[in-house]
Amino acid sequence: MENSLITGVRISSRMKEVKTSKIYELISKVIDLNARGIVVHALTAGEPDFDTPEHIIAAAKEAMRAGVTHYTPVRGSLEVREAVLNKFSRENGLNFEDCNIMVATGSKQIIANAFAVTLEPGQEVLLPTPYWAAYTGMIYAAGGVPAYAITSRKNGYKLTPELLRNSITPKTRWLVLNTPSNPCGIIYSTQELVQLGKVLEEFPNVYILSDEIYEKINYSDDHHASIAKTCPALTNRIIIANGVSKAYAMTGWRLGYGAGPSDIINAMADYQSQTTLGPSSISQAAAAAALNGPTDSLERMVDSYRSRRDLVAEIISTTNKIHMHSPQGAFYALLDVSDSLNNSMIFRNSQRKDEDFAAWLLDTHRVAVVPGSPFGAPGTVRVSFATDRETIEKGLCKLIKAVEQI
Ligand SMILES: Cc1ncc(COP(=O)(O)O)c(C=O)c1O
Repeated sequence: MENSLITGVRISSRMKEVKTSKIYELISKVIDLNARGIVVHALTAGEPDFDTPEHIIAAAKEAMRAGVTHYTPVRGSLEVREAVLNKFSRENGLNFEDCNIMVATGSKQIIANAFAVTLEPGQEVLLPTPYWAAYTGMIYAAGGVPAYAITSRKNGYKLTPELLRNSITPKTRWLVLNTPSNPCGIIYSTQELVQLGKVLEEFPNVYILSDEIYEKINYSDDHHASIAKTCPALTNRIIIANGVSKAYAMTGWRLGYGAGPSDIINAMADYQSQTTLGPSSISQAAAAAALNGPTDSLERMVDSYRSRRDLVAEIISTTNKIHMHSPQGAFYALLDVSDSLNNSMIFRNSQRKDEDFAAWLLDTHRVAVVPGSPFGAPGTVRVSFATDRETIEKGLCKLIKAVEQI
C-alpha cells in the first residue's frame, strides 16, 4: 500500500541536505503523545504562548469585511509598507525609502529570498555557532554552503572580531548575525557591532544578513542595536530580516519584512513574484495594525518572558551538572549538558549524544527539549520558556533528575 505512493522520481541534488528538521519530528511526537492522553512537559515551543492582541485581530476582521481579500503588490500593500518604513525610522533610526523594503510570508521567506537571489553554487554563508537550525536548509536550497564560526559558552557564545576575521574565506558571501539569538538568547551591543563592522569593512564582498526577529524580546538594559544603524559604512550590503511573529504573538499569520539595498530587494521581490507573490492581504492589514498600534500587550508579554527566564535560571542554579549562559533576549535557554553526556553510561556509544538524550528524555521522563546539534551546539539542549510556569518547573526538575541519573 505504502509503495503505491512512491514514484521513484529523482529529487534534485541540491535538495540532498534539505530535510524537515528533526525538531519538527520531535514536536510531532509530542503532539501524538498528547493526543493519546500522555502528559508531556514540552519545553520545545518556538513561538509565544500568548494570543494575538485583540486590536490586531480587529484590524484583520475589518480588512476582510472591507474587501481586502485580493492580491496585493508583491512587496506588500501601501499600508503595510508605510507601517514598516515608519517602524524602522521611529524605532531603529533607519530612514529607508520604499524601494528598500518588502514584506514576505514570514521573515523566513525574507532570508530564503536573500540567499536565493545572491548565492552562486558553492559560495559560503558564515554562521556563528550556535545558529538557528533553519539557516542551513535555506542555504543549501539556494546552492550555497554553510560555514561556521565556532563560539563557546565560556566566551558567551559571541562572535568576536578576531574569530570573524579568521573565519572569512574568499568564498564567503554572507555573514548571518542574529540578535537577540535563537537558541541562546545572546544580544550584541552597539559597541560589539561596531567592532565587528570594522572587520567587515575590510571585506567588501561579504554581505550581512541581520536577523532581528527577536528584537522586541530583550531583557537587557540596552535598546536593541541593529548593525545597519551602528555601522553606516556597511548599509549598502546589509539585509535586515524582521517580522511580527515573535513580538506580537503572530507566528501563524506568516508576515515578515525585510530592508536593504534596492537592487537586492528588487531581486528578492522578482523571485517572490515567481514563487509566492505577496503574503496574505489579511495578514498584511494585521501587521500594519501591529506595527502602528499600542505596545502595552507587547510589554506585558516581555515582562512575563523575563520572569520565566529568571525562573529557569533559578532552577538550573540548583544543579552543577547543567551550565547555562543566561539569555538576554528571545525565549530560549541553551543548557550545556556535555559533561554528563560524555561521562554517561547510557549514551557512551552514541554518535549524536544530545539527540539520543532528547529522544530518551521524552520516552522515559516525558520531557521534551530540543537537541543542540541541529543548532551547531552538540552536547547541549535548548529549552523554551514560552510556556507556563508549571511546565517550566516540572519539566526542568525532571530534566535535572534525568541528567543526574545518566
Ligand atoms: C532566529 C529566527 N529567525 C527567523 C525566524 C522565522 O520567523 P518567521 O518566519 O515566523 O518570521 C525564526 C523562527 O523561529 C527564528 O528563530
